[in-house]
Amino acid sequence: MCGIVGYIGPADAKHILLDGLRKLEYRGYDSAGLAIQQAGELAIRKRQGKIDRLAGELDLAPVEGMVGIGHTRWATHGAPSDDNAHPHVDCAGRMAVVHNGIIENYLALRESLEGRGHQFRSETDTEVFAHLIESHYAGDLYAAVVAALREVVGSYALVVMSLDAPDTLIAARQHSPLILGHGEQEQFIASDVPAVLAYTRKVTYLQNGEVAVLNRDGVRITRLDGTEVSRDISIVAWDAAAAEKGGYKHFMLKEINEQPTALEETLRGRISEDGAQITLPGLKLSPAQLSAISRVLIIACGTAYHAGLVGKYAIEQLARLPVEIDVASELRYRDPIIDEGTLAIVISQSGETADTQAGLHEARDKGAHVLAVTNVVGSSVDRDADSVLYTYAGPEIAVASTKAYTTQLMVMYLTALYLAQERGTMPDEARIQLIDAVRRIPSQTQTILEGQEAIHSLADRFDEIHSSLFLGRGVNFPTALEGALKLKEISYIHAEGYAAGEMKHGPIALITPQCPTVAVAVPGGVYDKMLSNIKEVKARAGHVIAVGAEGDGELHKYADDVIRIPRTVELFTPVLAAVPLQLLAYYCADNLGMDIDQPRNLAKSVTVE
Ligand code: G6P
Repeated sequence: MCGIVGYIGPADAKHILLDGLRKLEYRGYDSAGLAIQQAGELAIRKRQGKIDRLAGELDLAPVEGMVGIGHTRWATHGAPSDDNAHPHVDCAGRMAVVHNGIIENYLALRESLEGRGHQFRSETDTEVFAHLIESHYAGDLYAAVVAALREVVGSYALVVMSLDAPDTLIAARQHSPLILGHGEQEQFIASDVPAVLAYTRKVTYLQNGEVAVLNRDGVRITRLDGTEVSRDISIVAWDAAAAEKGGYKHFMLKEINEQPTALEETLRGRISEDGAQITLPGLKLSPAQLSAISRVLIIACGTAYHAGLVGKYAIEQLARLPVEIDVASELRYRDPIIDEGTLAIVISQSGETADTQAGLHEARDKGAHVLAVTNVVGSSVDRDADSVLYTYAGPEIAVASTKAYTTQLMVMYLTALYLAQERGTMPDEARIQLIDAVRRIPSQTQTILEGQEAIHSLADRFDEIHSSLFLGRGVNFPTALEGALKLKEISYIHAEGYAAGEMKHGPIALITPQCPTVAVAVPGGVYDKMLSNIKEVKARAGHVIAVGAEGDGELHKYADDVIRIPRTVELFTPVLAAVPLQLLAYYCADNLGMDIDQPRNLAKSVTVE
């Protein structure tokens, strides 16, 4: 998730681009850059770091012009650096591109272009676009861009500017957002509305597979096959603050709703086209190393720890490796048994949590192969690990983790499936069925989100509540822990996550009509046990809200309220079950008027012990 801005018109492009980038900084902030046509040349300025560093550079080396493109980066390929910052240019330095998304086949394209003499200056997938368009250019920029897009597999929002077509910007979209803003004799392009709102409220939303050609006096939109598209202009009614949150009241709600896309991005390029194999190039273990692994140790904090707990179930069940898991702050003081046969998996959204980093170093120093699962390219755990698998969730702004969690779960499933595949611990047929189920998760998540109003109504029950219980068993015991954590951290209602079978050893004493129980009871090996636990709560006059599967005709006979999630295999239910619990926590906190995105006493990233 990066931020893109483009401008063509009569005004000072630098000012408009910088202003737009600042409005998009929530989309990424590890580096920024812009390219402006200045006296028949492309002036490029780019800097690692926040947009103020780029602004400082522009003070030292000013540029002036009326056509330009800008970018604020959230790294996916290549660490944050001046060289990897966008825009990227072709060999001749006559064309510049900015891009948001992931090009899956960039390595093959890069090798082919290098074989034909193209010189690359960065490690990014984006730079492939600049050289690919250059290789196709024969006097018609639009034709060259379309030809390049036909060769690319992946997701993109792309804007291209060339000295050979000085009065034109070309933009294209596939799975990454782009909007066009329309002014008087000026056109804007951006990843999101806030970047243009100071200049115009007239926007066009570009759709997948579309290419836009922008001139000062208008925009022409086509599909990749050249067919003209006509689209009505929309008038944006949001104010600037709402626009930054995509019209949502809080970043947390926006991020909850981004999960289908985040999960899709996390899957992208990691499943073979025939749906039979998992490919994880980030996991740098040779076949000999893979078969030498004797155990897995998972290290994480907070929500990431809950993702690790689900990972334990997945890896043990599918790859038949023993998995131990520890919160990082405990691991570092207990002299853990770690050796060369250990695969240590370190999970951290930020990649900067101090305890998690200490755990990583301990594991590495004792000879383990360290796999980092992180959302931030170039973060400390990314740099210090032997292997890295990214969660492509994009920046998570709200303190309470949502889309980072579900994408961490997705990476855990992919890792378990990959280890099973490489170690031959499950039949191909069974693996293919699970891969098929994994691929359906993003759209199933979308289905849950479409029913969020029902969860909003359920949250009203918590207005007068001071304490609650969250119960789950097996792979959904972590779901109960995560559901309780979400509720307590943003609503300040006490919430206890418990293994349902353990309830009778203590928490059952808490049950009263004023202490509701949320029970995850999805079809699978522990379903009947969960029904028994729900009955135990009901027998003590407790109120039960159950999370169950679509089409389950039993559950409503026992629970007071039932939240339905689409059916999937039991192992994957934690991703789907997490979503209604996030929404429940969100609406409870919102009803109570809490500061949802920045709850008291909490920090997004805990960089001290
Ligand atoms: C903080 C955040 C949590 C997060 C935890 C671990 O407590 O508030 O949302 O789960 O740190 O953070 P990490 O960046 O390592 O995943």
